[in-house]
Amino acid sequence: MVRNGRQYGRKGKAPVTRSRPGALVTGASSGIGYELSKILAREGHDLALVARSADRLETIAGALRDDFGVQVVVVSVDLSDPGAPDRVFDRLREAEFTVDVLVNNAGFGTMGRFVRSDTGAQVDMVEVNITALTHLTRLYAERMLERGQGRIMNVASTAAFQPGPFMAVYFATKAYVLSFSEALAEELRDTGVTVTALCPGPTVTGFQKRAGMEHSPIGGRMVTADAASVARAGYAGMMKGKRLVIPGLFNRLGTMSPRFFPRALATRIVARMTAVRGEA
Ligand SMILES: NC(=O)c1ccc[n+]([C@@H]2O[C@H](COP(=O)([O-])OP(=O)(O)OC[C@H]3O[C@@H](n4cnc5c(N)ncnc54)[C@H](OP(=O)(O)O)[C@@H]3O)[C@@H](O)[C@H]2O)c1
Repeated sequence: MVRNGRQYGRKGKAPVTRSRPGALVTGASSGIGYELSKILAREGHDLALVARSADRLETIAGALRDDFGVQVVVVSVDLSDPGAPDRVFDRLREAEFTVDVLVNNAGFGTMGRFVRSDTGAQVDMVEVNITALTHLTRLYAERMLERGQGRIMNVASTAAFQPGPFMAVYFATKAYVLSFSEALAEELRDTGVTVTALCPGPTVTGFQKRAGMEHSPIGGRMVTADAASVARAGYAGMMKGKRLVIPGLFNRLGTMSPRFFPRALATRIVARMTAVRGEA
């Protein structure tokens, strides 16, 4: 049995602390999700790690148990399967694992012309980046609200702020994540449950390879941030209850550009950054 506590209360109210709080992280097997899992464990959270790669999750779970003395539950599911969020929920209920912190981080992109793209990959992207995130949030936000405490962080992207030709579906999924998170944060204002949208810029992870974007500017020379610093900024912002976290000054300035350019021009500028040679 994983016993964990409920630490995150309304401002000004003394938190009821029982053992350790529990954090569920999707996409914990690599990149930003892995770094967030390490921080959460270091800060005394029991963990539920979700991704497809069971072996990798078990290895990470063993290291986190050894290094930080926390309890870790591994749930290996494919979040493009519409039944996966319910399976995660059932598995954690069986384990009596209370989710005080929900980090919806799993996600992927693909690069190329939409009309030539693999249909299944586009649909799976919507399923992982949008549907599973929404489903898990629906399942856990209600329980957090009943307890009057909780932290939710949804990983969007600087891609959320303008359309992205040649990564059209990916940019659109992140616009959804940002809009949904900000709206939910307002709905949950003063309830003790906070919602944070983390919007990283290009970050060195497995993301670029999976997206097939290493030869584009946005997937090559523009990729400068490291996953550990993005995770640190996200964790700090989430714990402060911030609604929006954009790590890095350059990224913050970049997300403002659609305010100064006509939207069509901003879209064309992004097309220059996403276009693969020979594709544009
Ligand atoms: N890297 C960037 O430049 C960047 C910038 C802005 C936003 N982001 C966002 O940051 C988040 C994390 O990405 P990352 O950069 O850390 O990339 P990453 O290293 O490729 O990590 C992606 C994580 O998502 C999991 N995942 C992917 N598809 C899944 C599926 N169908 N079911 C369950 N889990 C799945 C992966 O695990 P398995 O493969 O084991 O399933 C992995 O743990 C994503 O939402 C991404 O859109 C990344």
